[in-house]
Amino acid sequence: MLRLRLAKSADAREIAELSRDLVDAGLGWTWHPQRVLRSIRARETNVVVATDEDRIAGFAIMDYGETRAHLTLLAVTPMHRRQGVGTKLLAWHEEAALAAGIEAIELELRASNHAARRFYQRLGFVEFALVRGYYQGVEAAVRMVRDIRRNARAIKVEPL
Ligand SMILES: CC(C)(COP(=O)(O)OP(=O)(O)OC[C@H]1O[C@@H](n2cnc3c(N)ncnc32)[C@H](O)[C@@H]1OP(=O)(O)O)[C@@H](O)C(=O)NCCC(=O)NCCS
Repeated sequence: MLRLRLAKSADAREIAELSRDLVDAGLGWTWHPQRVLRSIRARETNVVVATDEDRIAGFAIMDYGETRAHLTLLAVTPMHRRQGVGTKLLAWHEEAALAAGIEAIELELRASNHAARRFYQRLGFVEFALVRGYYQGVEAAVRMVRDIRRNARAIKVEPL
C-alpha cells in the first residue's frame, strides 16, 4: 500500500539515485546523496516520499520562502506512474505551504519534458518564462507557477 511520509536521513541515497536516473538523465548527477541529506535536514525544506512496502515510489522536495515555495525536485518511479502519486505528493506540499502562509508554488523543468509540462498544467500550473541554457548551458527551462490561495484570483502571468 502506498503511504506518504517525511523523508528520513536513511532515505537520502535512494532518493539521490532515483533523481540521477529519473530526473538528471544526461545532465550528470546534480542531486547527490549529501545534497539530498542537506534538504532532509533543512528547516525551510520538506522532503516527502511515497513508499510502496519499503521502497520509495516517488518523492518531492520543496523549499518554503516567505510568500512563495519552490518545488525543486519531483519524480515517481515508472511502475507507479499514472496512479496519482505525483498529484498526491504535490497536494501534501500544498497543504504544508498553505499552513505556512505561502501564496504560490513555482518550479522549473526541462523544456523538453513535455510529459511533466502536461502533468503540471493539469494541476493548474501556468508556464510564464523560458530560460535558455538554464540546465548547464545545454537545455532551456520552463518556469511555471500556481496560485495556491483558495478563493483567490489566479496570479496574472503572460502565458508563453
Ligand atoms: C511527471 C511525473 C512526476 C508525474 O507523476 P505521476 O504520479 O505519474 O502523475 P499522476 O498520476 O498524478 O498524473 C496526474 C495527471 O497528470 C497528467 N500526466 C501525468 N503524466 C503524464 C504523461 N506522461 N503524459 C501526459 N500527461 C501526464 C495526466 O493528466 C494525469 O492524469 P491521468 O493519469 O488521469 O490522465 C512522473 O511522470 C515522473 O516522475 N516523471 C519523470 C521525472 C520528472 O519529469 N519530474 C518532473 C520534473 S522535475
